[in-house]
Amino acid sequence: MVTLRTDTGWVPSPEDTPYLRLGEPKIRALVEAFYDAMQAHEPELTRTHRLDEHGHIPREFRDTFALFLIFWLGGPQGYLEARGHPRLRMRHARVPVDEAMRDAWVRSMQRAMDATGIDGEVRGYLDARFADVANFLRNVAPPDSGAVKKG
Ligand code: HEM
Repeated sequence: MVTLRTDTGWVPSPEDTPYLRLGEPKIRALVEAFYDAMQAHEPELTRTHRLDEHGHIPREFRDTFALFLIFWLGGPQGYLEARGHPRLRMRHARVPVDEAMRDAWVRSMQRAMDATGIDGEVRGYLDARFADVANFLRNVAPPDSGAVKKG
């Protein structure tokens, strides 16, 4: 089990965004560390992705996710121009996301934030936001609940 934080402590504003605090190079480094951690430690989660001929997450996908994070953290909106509205639940519909898969995703992101030295207020904020979205993307109910969560 990973700890899913819900409190953020710091509230960003248009003049003080996570994008401005981190800068684009660090966000790109975070994305690289994220997929490297996923490939090294979370084989099941890695296999849900379309992999290249070497079994690795393709460059193209790393770049798309970086573009998304840059936009989502308050930076330039290139992702919207390239991909349109994120519609994350729809785009994850083909991936069965249960609690174990959600936790594997959050663990990979926590490892990546550790590796890139993201800490302090921005870390608290990101821990909470990533946990929130990962939880929202669950589309497979726990075995005893009898229903698929809608949302
Ligand atoms: C909860 C567990 C998650 C799993 C299992 C998962 C898995 C995946 C997979 C398999 C893809 C498709 C990659 C491909 O084309 O092969 C994808 C796309 C994507 N995911 Fe996730 N993901 C998760 C959580 C998240 C979270 C929390 C975010 C955002 C903070 C996110 C953002 C994205 C984005 C932006 C895309 C690309 C959408 C596009 O096509 O433009 N994912 N994810």
